[in-house]
This record gives sequence, C-alpha cells and structure tokens, in this order.
Amino acid sequence: MPQLFDSYPLSGHTLANRTVMAPMTRARSPSHVPDEMVATYYRQRASAGLIVTEGVPVSPAAHGVLYVPGIYTPEQVAGWRKVTEAVHAEGGVIFAQLWHVGRASHASLQADGQAPVSSTSQASDKIMVFALDAEGKPGFIPATPPRAMTTAEVQQTVQDFAQAAANAIEAGFDGIEIHSANGYLLEQFLNPVVNDRTDQYGADTMENRCRFVLEIVDAVIDRIGAQRTGIRFSPWGNFNDMPAYDETAQTYLYLAGEMANREVAYVHLMDQHVGQGRPDASGINLDYLQLMRAAYPRGALILAGNMTLDTGNRLLEAGVLDLVGFGQPFISNPDLVERLRNGWPLATPNRKTYYGGGAEGYTDYPAYDPAAAS
Ligand SMILES: Cc1cc2nc3c(=O)[nH]c(=O)nc-3n(C[C@H](O)[C@H](O)[C@H](O)COP(=O)(O)O)c2cc1C
Repeated sequence: MPQLFDSYPLSGHTLANRTVMAPMTRARSPSHVPDEMVATYYRQRASAGLIVTEGVPVSPAAHGVLYVPGIYTPEQVAGWRKVTEAVHAEGGVIFAQLWHVGRASHASLQADGQAPVSSTSQASDKIMVFALDAEGKPGFIPATPPRAMTTAEVQQTVQDFAQAAANAIEAGFDGIEIHSANGYLLEQFLNPVVNDRTDQYGADTMENRCRFVLEIVDAVIDRIGAQRTGIRFSPWGNFNDMPAYDETAQTYLYLAGEMANREVAYVHLMDQHVGQGRPDASGINLDYLQLMRAAYPRGALILAGNMTLDTGNRLLEAGVLDLVGFGQPFISNPDLVERLRNGWPLATPNRKTYYGGGAEGYTDYPAYDPAAAS
C-alpha cells in the first residue's frame, strides 16, 4: 500500500515522497522577473516530492495579477534558472505552471491598457483581480470586460503555450503544468455557458470546447515531450465566476481519457469544494476519482484541496491517487514533509501576506526546531 512518504517515479526522476507543493501565486516579482528571494522561497520548500510553481503567464496578454513573473523574455528565463538551480541543489523536482488568465484581468495589467481577451466578450462583475486600485494601492478590483479572441488569436495562444514550455525547459524546469483550472482562459473555453463562440472552438459540442486545451497539450508535447507535460483541472469549480453545467463529469472524463492517450506525466485535480474524495461528497467524491483513475490509468493522478496526512494516505491506499497536493500548508511550513513525518505541529499561514509585499510571510517562516520546542 503506497503511503505519503514513499517515493514515486515521475518524468525520469524519483520523487522523494508523494507530496506536491500545489501552485500558489505569491506576487513577489514587481518587475515580472523572479529574483533571489523567489529562489530562496522555492529552495526552502524543495523537500516536497514535487514543486509546482505559482502560475506563470505565457505572454504579456496572459497576466491578470500584479507582480507576477512571466516566462516569455530572456530575463525571465534567466530569473527562473536561479529558481530551478536552487531547488535542484536541494535534490528537489520542479515544474512551472503555465498560465493565461483570459477575462480574469484588468486593462491596467495588459501591456497596452487594452481589454483582456477570452473565449467570449461576456463580462462578469463577480471576477475580482489583484491590481492597483483607484488610489494606486494593490488590492482587489473588478475585472475589465473582455474581448472575444479571433480564431487566429486562439491559435497564436496555443503557440504561446508551446514557446513558454520550451522556455521553461531552457530555464531548467523538469516539466510544466498547463493551468486549465480555476476559471482562467482554458476553462473559459471548456465551460459551455461562458464559451459562446461559433468557430471550431465553440460550445456546440464537447469536442469543440475541449479543442483549445487539447491543441495546447499537443503543441506543448511537440516541443518538450509528454513525460514533461502535466495539466491541472478543477471540475465543479466556480472560482472566477464559472457557472455550473450538466456535462461537467463527462467533460473531465473525456479530457482524462485524452490525457491517457497522450501519456502525459500527470493530471492534477483541484477540489474547490474540498469533498476530499469522501464517498458522500458531491463532485470529486470517491466514485468520481475511481472513474478518473479508470480513464487515466497509468500517469500520476494528483488531488489538492484541504489535504491532510490522513486524507492523503487514505486516497493513496484506495489506489485512486498517486500524489497528494498541499497548498497553504506549504506557505507557513517550508519543512511540511518533515513535520508530517514526525507528527510535529503545523504553523498557520498569515493570509494578509499571501499576495504582494516582500520577505514577510514569504521566506521568513522557519523550519520546526524540536529542540526549541522541548
Ligand atoms: C495564495 C494562493 C495562491 C494560489 N495560486 C494558484 C495558482 O497560481 N494556480 C493554481 O492552479 N492554484 C492556485 N491556488 C490554489 C492552490 O494550488 C490549492 O489548490 C489550494 O490552495 C487548495 O489547497 P490547500 O487547501 O492545501 O491550500 C492558490 C492558492 C493560494 C492559497
């Protein structure tokens, strides 16, 4: 029976354990280039089996949060190289999460002050964006109404993901995760209520609304190989005002099957409703995880969302997961794996320092010191 502290083979590496540090935007790069402090943050957390970085915009138009580092200029690639070298020096494995926010953006975050682009021109007044407010201070403000991408722009964006994946490998990453979760651009195509297109990426059939995601996956595989390609989905998620629809279960099982056909390294699910695979939960319950497992039998299946040692081990033992994602616990516990292994207490993260600012609440969380505690 696999357990959280067992190793796992992924993409030609042996992960030291089955924890995954889930991707977390921390907005500590005002110049959009990751620096030494960012490298320190990831190095401190390198005992995770696998680190997935914060969401990294694939192009200037992909930005939707202040102070986020991209991966489309030589300076950014050089900055990320510091991060990958720091993590590798500690024996860690690190994937970059490639991101395009679509309509979850604000004109002030776009290079030319233009409207953000999406699958649609439908605006949502419920999407809030971390940007400069009317007084010029960082804070959450409503998103700018989007402009629907032309078909040519959709295809250019596929190429932007492929180029960003190649840049990530140049920067020393072990692989990349395509961000197809949390109501961002890729989900704006997958969701048949938001997607109102009439071209081959339209919502008239499941195949058409999944086409953009699958073209990105194929273009990325073409550049860096399937073994270095992972993807994240959030079935039943409503973050960024994603409306519910009937074919959710079916859509993600179809995508999981397509990921199996392509032999990608992993499928990473985020459970926003934190059913945690419980049999009685709606959405991502044990039955659904079993269906996912059957649709995607060979690569690594990951689930994140309020995971604990016990929940993670239960799902590993049930054979429905291979790796267990932890988000917020890694913010305040750089040595999370050692703490879980020894039953040491976990520190609580300070939500006020999640986004923006400097070292406070970022690189200043200490490792647990059992001598000091006794
Ligand atoms: C500060 C913060 C930033 C996040 N940024 C991202 C992100 O960039 N990409 C992403 O896919 N998920 C992001 N998430 C979601 C996490 O990856 C994770 O799925 C979520 O926090 C649930 O796991 P947890 O309960 O262990 O924290 C973020 C979460 C937090 C708390």
